[in-house]
Amino acid sequence: MKKHVKNNVYWLGKVDWELETFHGADYSIHHGSSQNAYLIQEEKTVLIDTVWKPHSTEFVDNLASEVDLNSIDFIVANHGEVDHSGALPALMEKIPNTPIYCTANAVKSLTGQYHHPEWDFRVVKTGDSVDIGNGKQLVFVEMTMLHWPDSMATWMTEDNILFSNDAFGQHFSCDELFNDKADQCLLWEEAIKYYTNILNPFSPLVKKKVEEIQAMNLPIEIIAPSHGVIWRDDPLQIVKKYYEWSQEYQEDQITVIYDSMWNGTMQLAHKMAEEIALASPSSRVKIFNISKADKNIIMTEVFKSKAIAVGSPTVVMSVLSSVGGWLEFLKELRFRNKKAAVFGCYGWSGECTKVLREKLTEAGFAVVEPEIRCNWNPTAEDLAQAAGVAAALVS
Ligand code: FEO
Repeated sequence: MKKHVKNNVYWLGKVDWELETFHGADYSIHHGSSQNAYLIQEEKTVLIDTVWKPHSTEFVDNLASEVDLNSIDFIVANHGEVDHSGALPALMEKIPNTPIYCTANAVKSLTGQYHHPEWDFRVVKTGDSVDIGNGKQLVFVEMTMLHWPDSMATWMTEDNILFSNDAFGQHFSCDELFNDKADQCLLWEEAIKYYTNILNPFSPLVKKKVEEIQAMNLPIEIIAPSHGVIWRDDPLQIVKKYYEWSQEYQEDQITVIYDSMWNGTMQLAHKMAEEIALASPSSRVKIFNISKADKNIIMTEVFKSKAIAVGSPTVVMSVLSSVGGWLEFLKELRFRNKKAAVFGCYGWSGECTKVLREKLTEAGFAVVEPEIRCNWNPTAEDLAQAAGVAAALVS
């Protein structure tokens, strides 16, 4: 069923409480998610985005129960990714001549995925607009690389709604739709996790885009993203947060991240955390075992940190595969202005700290010189080195 957003604007999407992962298994889902599509019923009837392919039959049936599909004047595809375009093929089978407004890059992504070059694409750029009657217009704003080259947002005049697509979203289920109805603790936890894992690589572009939107001086009353809650209570609060998060964000937190074969490196991790807490009493210190904790949550904790300490034992002249894979993900997220320290145990060749140092440097971290590289299980002398590493990390 459609749900009322404002005046003649309705939400018509899928609140997906059953979802467990997103982007394959690259993003963990702990509190559900939603794919938000919107129906505008002014003099023109407009559909903004659709839902993920597995929900396409349900979506098209719902839409048909609310509106004569043939009365839809046009569709806006803010982004071609399958979680928002997945129901387009099923819908377009029923209304094949309906225009689709999207960016030039979205024509590429939609055609590449669904192989329908005959669809009536209407390519738009920033500032282009369409009249929807009753004195209202839809104005398009390209959101290139937020987070795909094809992304855009749509601004509805008079009602002052920004349909922002992925930007300002969260993977979070909220049947009540609006931010003021949500559990605030979970909402913000999911918003920062979403920013870290999806948008942080593009933070310089987020900063520029927020400045561009602020310069437009739009009287934004509602921000309606394509995932999670609709921001109607102080909608600019999420824009301000994005601006803060986009500028090499950090809190007074230091996070220790490790994996261990026989618990030697685990002992070093706990000693490192103890010494960091002593060296920087104001800091929040957390420890995560890479194999036991959720990798997206660890990344969110890295995002909040001013420094991290990473540990792995040596395995066949390298590091544990869990740590190696995690370091690749860390590099992908392009953190900046953070320090790092390395530690690890070894039995024979002992390359762990060298590999950790190289990978963390590649990932953009400033790695401090002191380290703990411990042969076999830590002795009291090995553990005593943690104080020097902690001092370098917090200085
Ligand atoms: Fe929610 Fe980029 O798709």
